[in-house]
Amino acid sequence: MKKPENFSDFFALSMTKFFRLIADTFFAKRYGHRAVVLETIAGVPGMVAGMLIHLRSLRKMQTGYGPQIREMLAEAENERMHLMFFIEIAKPNAFERLLVITAQGVFMTFYSFMYIFFPMTSHRMIGYFEDEAVKSYTEYLELVESGSVMNINAPKIAIEYYGLSNKAKLSDLIRCVREDEMHHSDVNHSYADELDSTSKANQSSELKISTENNKKVA
Ligand SMILES: [Fe+2]
Ligand SMILES: [Fe+2]
Repeated sequence: MKKPENFSDFFALSMTKFFRLIADTFFAKRYGHRAVVLETIAGVPGMVAGMLIHLRSLRKMQTGYGPQIREMLAEAENERMHLMFFIEIAKPNAFERLLVITAQGVFMTFYSFMYIFFPMTSHRMIGYFEDEAVKSYTEYLELVESGSVMNINAPKIAIEYYGLSNKAKLSDLIRCVREDEMHHSDVNHSYADELDSTSKANQSSELKISTENNKKVA
């Protein structure tokens, strides 16, 4: 896991720990239900970031944003597919459905504002969320492999999506999903790193300009 280096990283990590605590309190070891509910949230950030970057490109009338827009929208679509796989495995109860509706409203609003004002912290936070998702799927996989959770057949929709064999099991599906989450983590941490270096470069060039101006005045 990437070590936090500044206030923004520490904030992103504390938010992640806070959300992890809520998830642990609600779901404990019910990983199927946990996956269903959390994947409904996981599909939000990519769509928000993709839309806001798209709007920035329109406002600035500039090219160069395409790869990031497509990456973010692909992440949202990939998370939506994770939801479609796990909904075949665990059926949410009425309380969980209510939780999903409330959480979508709250998280969508929170993340949209956060991304507008603090995009670097937002990507860092999602990077840390994804690291937690990798841990949760690893724990889920351990339960399936140890026999504590039945290793049922993987759903057809997942077999088609990942091109798995017809005999694929839940454990194979969890490995594929975990690999996707690792990719989301790498992507979001790398976007946060890029924004961090851009802001540092801007700060040092501003400092250089103001030092030169001071010299001229003196
Ligand atoms: Fe996911
Ligand atoms: Fe993810």
